Amino acid sequence: MSLLVRGGTVVNSQGRRAADVLCEDGRIAAVLEPGSGVAADEAVDAGGLLVFPGFIDPHVHPRDPGDTHKEDFAHASRAAAAGGITTLLVMPNAVPPVTDAASFRRRAEEHGAVAHVDFGLWGLSLGMANIDDLAGLFAAGAVAVKLFWGYALDRESKRLVYNSDDCTPDDVIPPASTGEVLEICRVVAGAGGILGAHCEDRDILDVGQRRLGRAPEDYTELNVARPEVAESTSVAVGIELSRATGCRFHVCHISSARATHLVRLARKDGLPVTAETCPHYLLLAADDCAGKDSAMKAYPPCREPEDREALWAGVIDGTITSLGSDHAPHTLEDKTQPFATAPAGMVAVEVMMPLLLDQMTAGRLTPERLCWAACEGTARLYGLHPRKGAILPGADADLVLVDPQATWTIRGEDLHSVQRHTPFEGYEVRGMPVMTILRGSVVAAGREPVGAPHGRLVRREVRGRS
Ligand code: DOR
Ligand code: ZN
Ligand code: ZN
Repeated sequence: MSLLVRGGTVVNSQGRRAADVLCEDGRIAAVLEPGSGVAADEAVDAGGLLVFPGFIDPHVHPRDPGDTHKEDFAHASRAAAAGGITTLLVMPNAVPPVTDAASFRRRAEEHGAVAHVDFGLWGLSLGMANIDDLAGLFAAGAVAVKLFWGYALDRESKRLVYNSDDCTPDDVIPPASTGEVLEICRVVAGAGGILGAHCEDRDILDVGQRRLGRAPEDYTELNVARPEVAESTSVAVGIELSRATGCRFHVCHISSARATHLVRLARKDGLPVTAETCPHYLLLAADDCAGKDSAMKAYPPCREPEDREALWAGVIDGTITSLGSDHAPHTLEDKTQPFATAPAGMVAVEVMMPLLLDQMTAGRLTPERLCWAACEGTARLYGLHPRKGAILPGADADLVLVDPQATWTIRGEDLHSVQRHTPFEGYEVRGMPVMTILRGSVVAAGREPVGAPHGRLVRREVRGRS
């Protein structure tokens, strides 16, 4: 089975050129001069379009199993395809979570039966409770291990406790101490893995909430309760633990100028420290969230315009290696509760690339830079390159055709997730994925998922240490 994508402009992280892409048996067979006239079973006309490697979203919480009324993997992966994403890296905090090799294999099987795009799996750190299982998780192929640093976890279900008033100390696994995280880093380094962390220092969050005297009741108060110094302190500690152990330390959803600066310095020092940010931190400051406070509630919160600008600088200079949606759906009922009790997180997987492509069309970043952050940089970070992340002979034939001038007014009702509401309701974007191709087959066209699910598990290639 062969497919020729002809007449487009092929984008890689180093440049773009007019070329035809020949796909054979799910792989890229050749990148040819335009008009090569080579024969193929099928052809797609990409005239006037950019041809990107399939976009990778390394940060999604599909709630499956456990909270499938919020989202499930079949829907999340169809939404991903519609939004131009061909690989999802799935966060482990479902119920039950992925905490060891056996639960990894079960989740891979469950998701593999319904996956509309390819997927990798994160493992969950339960602090000391599963430290002996981390090596097995990496051996099974986990792309990284996630530490919800600063979060308590429900002892029974291992669910995150979103608001500290929601629990009694006996019911929870308390957040790991700094010394315990040092131990976790040693183990992850020994396994040649990556520790990805939600970085907010628990003590600083507690003091922030005490300053308020109650749970935050609007977005401004959220930044008092969860200030940027909570993030930067946790990132600073993570960098030191990485330096001491050699552990690859990845800052998930970085939100502040100060933390970005620390990551930049660490990378200049040659430390294996990386960072990811999300569209909401790049596009919104705290003041923009006023009026839709609960809908925009996410941890960490959006910050100040200076932070937003520093994140852009980080994406442009490569300090920030990766972009993720932090797709973390809740029901509309959950999200229309009073701010203090509403859970954090938003429906985001399908709007991530339209929002970022809009920024590309507006000239905020080049196609090459976007290709680095949303394809190659992310694929390299998680050990998926060169199979994913670049349009090269031998790579998986994952391609996204982008029309930089196509427009869309974002509407929750158009989304393909279980929960179809978005804080970006009514946003107008210019720059859209118009066709998504997974290993040589079309999985979405014109924003609609197409065909039967045939997504597969991708494993991180472990580069062990000697
Ligand atoms: O806002 C968030 N929601 N931040 C997280 O770290 C977790 C996520 C979720 O799973 O709901
Ligand atoms: Zn997080
Ligand atoms: Zn998350």
